[in-house]
Amino acid sequence: MFTRFLKNNLRFFLLIQLVLPAAMAQSSGAGDARAVNLLCEYKVNPMGIDASHPRLSWQIETSAEGVMQEAYQVIVASDREGLDGSRAPAWDSGKVISDQSIHVRYQGQKLESRQRYHWKVRIWVDGSASEWSEPAWWEMGLLDPADWKASWIESTREEDITRSEPSPMLRREFELDRDPVRARLYITSRGLYEAEINGSVVGDEVLAPGWTSYNHRLQYQVYDVTGLLRNGANAIGVRLGDGWYRGFIAFRGNRNAYGDHLGLLCQLEVTYGNGSTEIIKSDTEWKASTGAILASDIYNGETYDARLEKEGWSTPGYDDGDWLPVRLGADSGGKLIASEGPPIRRIEEIRPIEILETPEGDTVLDMGQNMVGRIRMKVSGETGTKVVIKHAEVLDKDGNFYTENLRAADQKLEYTLKGGGEEVYEPVFTFQGFRYLAVDGYPGELTLDSFTGVVIHSDMEPTGSFECSHPLVNQLQQNIIWGQKGNFLDVPTDCPQRDERLGWTGDAQVFAETASFNFNAASFFTKWLGDVAADQTDDGQVPHVVPNVLRGFSATGWADAAVIIPWTMYVRYGDRRILEQQYESMAAWVGYMKEQAGDSYLWTNGTHYGDWLAYATDRSDYPGATTDKDMLATAFYAYSTSLMEKTCRVLGKVNEAEQYASLWKRIQQAFVNEYVTENGRMASNTQTAYTIALEFGLLPRGLRAQAADRLVADIRSFNNHITTGFLGTPYLCHVLSDNGKTGTAYDLLNQETYPSWLYPVKMGATTIWERWDGIKPDGTFQNAGMNSFNHYAYGAIGSWLYGVVAGIRPDPDEPGFKHILISPEPGGGLTHARAELDSMYGRIESGWEITEDGFKLQVVIPPNTHATVRLPRTRVSEVRLHGQPLEDLENYRPRQEGDTVVLGILSGEHEFSYNPPVF
Ligand code: BGC
Repeated sequence: MFTRFLKNNLRFFLLIQLVLPAAMAQSSGAGDARAVNLLCEYKVNPMGIDASHPRLSWQIETSAEGVMQEAYQVIVASDREGLDGSRAPAWDSGKVISDQSIHVRYQGQKLESRQRYHWKVRIWVDGSASEWSEPAWWEMGLLDPADWKASWIESTREEDITRSEPSPMLRREFELDRDPVRARLYITSRGLYEAEINGSVVGDEVLAPGWTSYNHRLQYQVYDVTGLLRNGANAIGVRLGDGWYRGFIAFRGNRNAYGDHLGLLCQLEVTYGNGSTEIIKSDTEWKASTGAILASDIYNGETYDARLEKEGWSTPGYDDGDWLPVRLGADSGGKLIASEGPPIRRIEEIRPIEILETPEGDTVLDMGQNMVGRIRMKVSGETGTKVVIKHAEVLDKDGNFYTENLRAADQKLEYTLKGGGEEVYEPVFTFQGFRYLAVDGYPGELTLDSFTGVVIHSDMEPTGSFECSHPLVNQLQQNIIWGQKGNFLDVPTDCPQRDERLGWTGDAQVFAETASFNFNAASFFTKWLGDVAADQTDDGQVPHVVPNVLRGFSATGWADAAVIIPWTMYVRYGDRRILEQQYESMAAWVGYMKEQAGDSYLWTNGTHYGDWLAYATDRSDYPGATTDKDMLATAFYAYSTSLMEKTCRVLGKVNEAEQYASLWKRIQQAFVNEYVTENGRMASNTQTAYTIALEFGLLPRGLRAQAADRLVADIRSFNNHITTGFLGTPYLCHVLSDNGKTGTAYDLLNQETYPSWLYPVKMGATTIWERWDGIKPDGTFQNAGMNSFNHYAYGAIGSWLYGVVAGIRPDPDEPGFKHILISPEPGGGLTHARAELDSMYGRIESGWEITEDGFKLQVVIPPNTHATVRLPRTRVSEVRLHGQPLEDLENYRPRQEGDTVVLGILSGEHEFSYNPPVF
C-alpha cells in the first residue's frame, strides 16, 4: 500500500527534495490558499456534456509564494444542498494525497442523463486544509439514444435542391398547465438552426449545431429555457438554414454534401414543482412555412425580404392556417453527441472607420480590420427598397473594391425593406470574411453608424498576449490573433472568405501550437480530432480536409495532424485523455505510412502538397525553395512515429513504445542514407529541408552543427529572407534558436521586404496572408485563384514569439505547464518583450526589458507549478533577485551553464536583474 502511494507520488517527493527546499522557505504560509476557477471538461459550468467520467480542474488562489498542493478532496452531489454532507454524495474523493489539480477524473456513481451535478473542492497546502471552494456544476446531456423521444421532421414544401431555397420555418404551439421549475431544450438539425420560444431567440449561439462529420457525428445543444416558458399557451419556432449540410461547400457549384433535406430534431423537457415532467418534441404536430430568408448560404450570403417576415410566428395565437404539414425524416445519420468544443458566438463588435467613394463609383465602408462574421445594418426607407451589400478583404491598387480572390463565393447580402421605421438587419445562417463593404441602394444618408461589424468565432477563452518594443511585430501578433479568430469557427479552416473555408488538416497542424498560446484551444481541437478519427478510412488514411467534403487523399504534413495535434494538446494542457481517445486514429495513420513505405522505410508514393506555397521564383540569383516531397514524406513519417513512441510511453504501452522506437531508428537511417551526404548537405538545399531534418532529430549528432550552418548560410545568401512554405515555417525560428542561432531568427523576424513576416504588415495587413506576397510591392495581387488575406498558417511564428522572445515554454515531461521553462532570448534590437499565458494552473508571465540600468526579467509562476529559469548572458555573481544578490539567498541553487544562469523557482513573482548584459 505504502509502496503504491510512494510510486504514485514519486515525482512529487522528488520535487520536494530537489527543488522545493530552497524555494519553500519563501513561502509565507498558505493560510488563504483556496481552489478557484473551477472547470469541468475545460468549461465553466457546462450544460449538456456526455463524458462518462468528466474531468475537473481548478486553480489555486493565494497570497503566499512557493505554494504546492499536497492533497485535495472533491465532493460531487446531485443537488446543491447535497454538498453540505446532509445526503450521500455522488462522489466524495476523500482526502487524496496528490498535487493533481487539473483533469481530476470523476470516479463516483454512474452519471445520469439530464442530471445537474454540483461540486466543490478543497486543497491541502502546508499541512492544512483550505476552505471549500465556491460550488460549481455541470449538467449531463442525453446519454442514451433511448433518451431521445423526438422524431426528425422536415418541411413538406417542394424544393429545388440544386440551388438555395427559402429557409424553412417550423412551429408548434403547446399548453402548460403550470409554471415550470425547470425546462431544457435539447436540439439539433440537419443544416443550421435558430430556435425561438414565445418570441425570444433561444441561447446566444450562432451557426448551431456547428460542423462535424455529420454522417458520423452530429452535435446537439442543450439550453436552459425555464425563463422563456409560462403557464398557459406557449409556442416554439425553429428556422433552418442550408449551412454546411446542404449549402454550397467544397468549391464552385458543389452542394448537398451531406443530404438534400433540412431537418429538425428537438425536445423540450419541462419539469414542474411536483417533479412531474412533460416533453414537447419534434413530431408531426408541427407545421412548416417559409418567411423572409429567401436564400442563405455559407459562401454566398443571404437574401432577405423583410416584407415577408412572419410577425409573431414563434408566439402562441399566431395564425398558421396556411402553413404546410411536416413529414417525418429518416432517423439515419450520425450518432448524436453533446457539443464538445466551445460554441460559436458573437464575440465583439467593430465600428467602420471610414466611408469611401471608389474610383469606379462604389460606396465603400472600411471596417479598419479584416474580420469574420457579419454586419448589422440600421436602415429606414420605403417598403420594397433593396440594399445590396458586398464584402471584400481588400481594395485594389487603384482603390477599387476587389472580389476576384473570393472566387465563386458571392459573400453578398440583399435586404429588402419592409418600410415604416428603423429596421435592423443581421443575417442568420452565413458569415463573411471582409474588411470592406460595398453598399448599394442604401436609402437616406449612409453614416458610420449605419453598420456594425459583428465578429463571430468559437468562443474560446483568450489565454495569451505578447507585446514587445517593435510596433510592427506587435501588429504581426495582432494579425496572428485575428487570423485565429477568423478561422476557428467550430472547425479550424484555411480561410473564411472564398469558396473554400474548409478544415484543411495541414493548416491546423502547423498552427496548433501558436493557437494554444493565444486561446484555450483544447476543447476546440478535442471536438475536431473526433471528426478526424471519424473521417479516417479503414486503412488509416486521413483526408486532407476534415470534415471530409472533398473525398481527399492523405498528404504528408497534412494527415500528420492526426498525430501532431493530440500530442500538442497533451503537452499544452496536460490532457492525457486526448491521447487515449485518439490513440487508434494516431496509430492507424502511422500504420498507413508504414504500409506505404514498406521495407525501404522511405515513403515515396502518394500525392503531396509538400512545402506548400514556399518561395518560388524565376530569378537567377536565388533559385527558389522547392523541397523534395518524398523527403518531406519520410521526415513526417519519422516524426509522427517518434510522437507515437512518446504517446505510448505516456499511456504505459511499453511494448508498443519500443516498437515505434525501433521503427523510428530504421526510418531515420533510411532518411540519412537517401537524403543526406556525408558532410551534412541535404538533397534539397532549402531552409525547409534543414529545418525539418533538425527539428525532427533526423540528423546524426555530428552533422547537426553543419546543417544549422548551412541553414544560416541559405538565409544569409538570400539577404535574411524566409523561403519556407507551410511545413517549414512553424519550425524555422525554433530550429535556429535551438541551435544557437537566435540572432539569425531575429534577422528573419525584423525583415520588412518580401518574403518575410513583416512585409504584409508594412503593406497594411491586419490578418495573416495565405502567401508571402498576396499584395506585391507594386500593389498588384498574387493570382486570384489562390490569394486569401486571412489564412493563419504563416502565423505559426507566434509560438516562437511566446516561446523564445518572451521565453515561456512547456515541458513535455511535466505537461500542461506543471513545469514551466522560462528562457527568454533577447535580441534583434528589442528593448523589451513580455508574454502572459493563462495556463490550466493559472497565469504565467515572462517580461524583460533592457534599460541603462541593465537587464530585468519579471517572472510570474502560478501556484502548484514550478519553473526552471534560464538567464542569458550573465554569471551567477551578477544576478539579483528582488534587488538581492542571488548568491546571498540561500534558498536558491543557481548554476552556471556556459554564459547562462539556470535556477529552479516556485510560484510567485520574481524579478531578476543584472548588469551589464551583453546583447
Ligand atoms: C488551402 C490551403 C490548403 C491547401 C492544400 C488550399 O486551397 O487554402 O490552405 O492547405 O489548399 O493544398
